[in-house]
Amino acid sequence: MIDLAAVRADTPAASRRIYLESAGASLPPEPVLQEQLAHLRREAEVGGYVAADERAADLDAGYGVFAELLGCRPDQVAFTDSASRSWVTAFEAVPLGKGDRVLVGEVEYASNAIPMLMRAEAVGASVEVVPSDEHGSFSAAALEEMLDDRVALVSVVHVPSNGGTVADVRRISDAAHRVGALVLLDACQAIGQLALDAEALDVDMVTGTGRKWLRAPRGTGVLVVRDRAAERLRPPVADLRGAVWTGPASYRLHRDAKVFELWENNAAARLGLIRAARYLLDLGPAEVERAVTARAAHLRTGLAALPGVTVHDLGTRRSGIVTFSVAGLAATAVRDLLAARDITVTASFAPSTLLDMSARRLDAIVRASPHYFVTEEQLDEAVAAVGALR
Ligand SMILES: Cc1ncc(COP(=O)(O)O)c(C=O)c1O
Repeated sequence: MIDLAAVRADTPAASRRIYLESAGASLPPEPVLQEQLAHLRREAEVGGYVAADERAADLDAGYGVFAELLGCRPDQVAFTDSASRSWVTAFEAVPLGKGDRVLVGEVEYASNAIPMLMRAEAVGASVEVVPSDEHGSFSAAALEEMLDDRVALVSVVHVPSNGGTVADVRRISDAAHRVGALVLLDACQAIGQLALDAEALDVDMVTGTGRKWLRAPRGTGVLVVRDRAAERLRPPVADLRGAVWTGPASYRLHRDAKVFELWENNAAARLGLIRAARYLLDLGPAEVERAVTARAAHLRTGLAALPGVTVHDLGTRRSGIVTFSVAGLAATAVRDLLAARDITVTASFAPSTLLDMSARRLDAIVRASPHYFVTEEQLDEAVAAVGALR
């Protein structure tokens, strides 16, 4: 069981406001904030390089921390500055030629879709959409129908930005592997709220961000590249972090996932990211998943009982993301009216998840994403506040 008093003591702002925006950018716990601040102060005293050298062992240990968190080996982990950076880095390295096919789900995220479409256009590949099943989730059955040996990549969003459904990733990866396709898992909304094991899911690449459910600093991200992908990927760029310049006309790419990193990074943010992952491991990812899922379910039930409120979440397995609308009020109006009462939610707009939102004829919905540090009383207060809006 999560010690609610302890995690709330680590998150002072959680008592000053009802914070339901961990799917956007969560509140970092004190140890994460202090880790970052201390490093920034040290950089100001001795310079960034010396400060980083002093923490070299901790920075290096970070690969092991994320390996433990995500179910992979330390040499399969690369650190980046966002989920999109991780995703584009992995995607651009997937060999793709004329006639190749990339399959995506209806809940694909815009920042993945755009580079996919750009590259497909450039090389003459196609991007095809796997229809959702009757529950609104990525349909493994429909995928199986569409697969052939021209499918180079299946892109799966574990938890979409705009709704509570959770993809049945293992079934999707098994099907994709039967035709030799690689599987790229966008776990941006999953890492930190769901216990995630890349080996058990048998996905080839995993991308995630720090600032959301992981409660890490902004400008941090992670990429996991497992062996099946590592053998095939061709990094489009590398600097002296990812490769060694061996002669006037030669270089050697590193064989581990560091080939996907660039040399410069924000060490304070990286240390904060590693601290956030340790914090999560100490709490226990399965405990966190239970707590988040329970809070979201509580919120959904409360909202669904309100007249004029429609809950939009689909799927048979639900995450910590709760989406809804209030009759007669724009999503932005709901967001702003709740903000005036110190309740933080956001609005999710169609262009972020265009296919799914268009299929459901939605322009914008309100998104509430309670983390484990939110109390049940706060959720009830938020429901009452939504009820009072009409
Ligand atoms: C499902 C999903 N994928 C990717 C991203 C992009 O993450 P980042 O902003 O860290 O690049 C988001 C951000 O909201 C997201 O919800």
